[in-house]
Amino acid sequence: MAALPDNSIKPLSTNSSDLIGEGVIIDIGTGDGRFVYQSARLNPNKFYIGIDPNTRPLEKISEKIHRKPAKGGAPNVLFIQSAVEDLPAELDGIANEVHVHFPWGSLLRAVATGDLDVLRNLRRVCAREALLEVVIGLDPERDQSEIERLGIASLTLEFIDNVLVSNYAAAGFRIIERGIIAASEWPRLNTSWAKRLERNERRAITYVIATTD
Ligand SMILES: C[S@@+](CC[C@H](N)C(=O)[O-])C[C@H]1O[C@@H](n2cnc3c(N)ncnc32)[C@H](O)[C@@H]1O
Repeated sequence: MAALPDNSIKPLSTNSSDLIGEGVIIDIGTGDGRFVYQSARLNPNKFYIGIDPNTRPLEKISEKIHRKPAKGGAPNVLFIQSAVEDLPAELDGIANEVHVHFPWGSLLRAVATGDLDVLRNLRRVCAREALLEVVIGLDPERDQSEIERLGIASLTLEFIDNVLVSNYAAAGFRIIERGIIAASEWPRLNTSWAKRLERNERRAITYVIATTD
């Protein structure tokens, strides 16, 4: 297939404060929920769902959302405890955007290798013409043993074009944009891991944006 254009579009999440209109946004592997919380406060007409099997890092923000909006509350946020492998059927077809930011473990393996079962799960929660954004930050030295354990190939543009494009397509996602940018050039991606990783010059950040029909 023809190569996709280079980084002409920046990842969706960097523009989250500029998003307008309504819709449902799902953040898979939400961690401490920062992206969901901050985006929901900026976009009160959108509904945000943060999903993670590990709820402990979510304790602070999941308490905060129940306050009055003037005191930091966010009535347009819901957190669900689930792994991507077991997404509840109630979410089927509802998401206008799905985000996966700085995944690790089985979530990382799935999006970085194009695991069909997991990608189909992500597709299942999407509405028509939804957007999927995957942002991966790996340090080839520090993460070497994890990269080997998970069987992740080097995330080059060639690998994305030659392997991930067809794997994502088999699950119903058309990759419309992808890029690799140095962490030091990373703009304001509002997640806790983005903040941690931007200080590491060696860590390349790979992103993929895909759409459903
Ligand atoms: C490095 S943290 C990133 C958290 C957040 N997205 C951020 O950018 O700050 C990776 C997250 O992926 C979650 N995760 C790992 N495997 C998962 C799976 N199978 N399904 C859903 N989430 C998973 C972990 O629990 C963890 O919260």
